[in-house]
Amino acid sequence: MTNINDLVSNFDPQLKLDLVEVDTIHQEFLHLVEQATKAKGLEFADIFKNLLAHTQAHFSGEEENMKKIGHGSMLEHISDHQRILGDMSRFNDKVQVGRTQMARAWMTDSLLQWFDTHVKTMDSALAVDLKKHLHKDSITESA
Ligand SMILES: [Fe+2]
Ligand SMILES: [Fe+2]
Repeated sequence: MTNINDLVSNFDPQLKLDLVEVDTIHQEFLHLVEQATKAKGLEFADIFKNLLAHTQAHFSGEEENMKKIGHGSMLEHISDHQRILGDMSRFNDKVQVGRTQMARAWMTDSLLQWFDTHVKTMDSALAVDLKKHLHKDSITESA
């Protein structure tokens, strides 16, 4: 099973996509999950709320990039984001009124597994596409 310690310690060989902006936001995501895992009581609710805000920004940044380059798998990728964001936001509603147990279980059992797969498939495909466009732009600029 995918756990937070494995994901953090294997980030470079397994999850790094070699685009600084994307890799940084993915590391921040894991850092927030790690903090949430360790947090107790009210602190958990604050971190979970930060995780939701961070994930919203993370996804909309990727979606802007997809639109900019006309990424082929855009619709599929966006609907995967929407599904997880919907779940996270429903759990956050519960967490903010003191019901944290299900959110904790979801985070460790589902969210991390989702993240691992999502980065290796959809984000990785997006990174390849973005790099192609960056490369094209740099050729155009220097020509
Ligand atoms: Fe991502
Ligand atoms: Fe994504």
